[in-house]
Amino acid sequence: MDNRPIGFFDSGLGGLSCLPSLLKKMPNEKVVYYGDTARTPYGSKSTATIEKFSFQISDYLVEHNVKMIVIACNTISATCLDALRRRHPQIPIIGVIEPIAQKIARDTAEETKIGVIGTKVTISSGAYANQITSRNKKVKLFSKACPAFVPLIEEGIIDDEIMDLTIKHYLDDFISDNGITKLVLGCTHYPFLTDNLHRIYPDLELLNPSQEVINTVQEILQKNDQLAGPNSLEHQCFASDLSEVFMNMISRIFNDESDVTVNIKKFED
Ligand code: DGL
Repeated sequence: MDNRPIGFFDSGLGGLSCLPSLLKKMPNEKVVYYGDTARTPYGSKSTATIEKFSFQISDYLVEHNVKMIVIACNTISATCLDALRRRHPQIPIIGVIEPIAQKIARDTAEETKIGVIGTKVTISSGAYANQITSRNKKVKLFSKACPAFVPLIEEGIIDDEIMDLTIKHYLDDFISDNGITKLVLGCTHYPFLTDNLHRIYPDLELLNPSQEVINTVQEILQKNDQLAGPNSLEHQCFASDLSEVFMNMISRIFNDESDVTVNIKKFED
């Protein structure tokens, strides 16, 4: 048993979309979450900048004595997973891409046309294509960067005509021209668009990587005998800017707000 928290981090509020699966499946686990809301988005930045910011945040999580780190961001997972593992060899570090890539490769028996959407950095890294098609050649993968989604979501512009128009701008032709039947939400911000996507494309199956990530977290903790037992510790959330939208998302994700503390933490640029 190990009651130390699990560290999660993202460029902003997107990584919070991984937490409902964790809280449901392993209710004893506590998290330290960091969202870099003042410096978001990362998805159009250079790898050197993303790595520098990720090291600052992961060092901070390690200072909080986390037993594991989940990189709750596709952009960072696509570019810095190996560097982060080298920096913190003493704890397991999990990215969000590999678990869903393995599942898609394993579960796809017939030729299937799957779309992946993500940030510019994630899509241009080819991380999804490499990890899926190297394991299963039957998957026909089509990728599309949707860089305007993250800034709109961070602004809380979700249940809004502007978001619907932006979705259609990026995805109408992409889905119909390529005959896509399944769409991987390759950015942890995008699960917040689930209702919009279901409404606009009712026949499209959405694949949200967070469930597989949390399954992997559970497998590793079980294997290392590190699952938490009942405890009264609090969840801790930090952000470089405590925006109203970030605070609202925290209230949505954690049912009992008395279980979570929220604080500001900035790093030098
Ligand atoms: N949630 C991040 C991801 O999964 C968003 C990246 C960004 O800040 O642009 O890629």
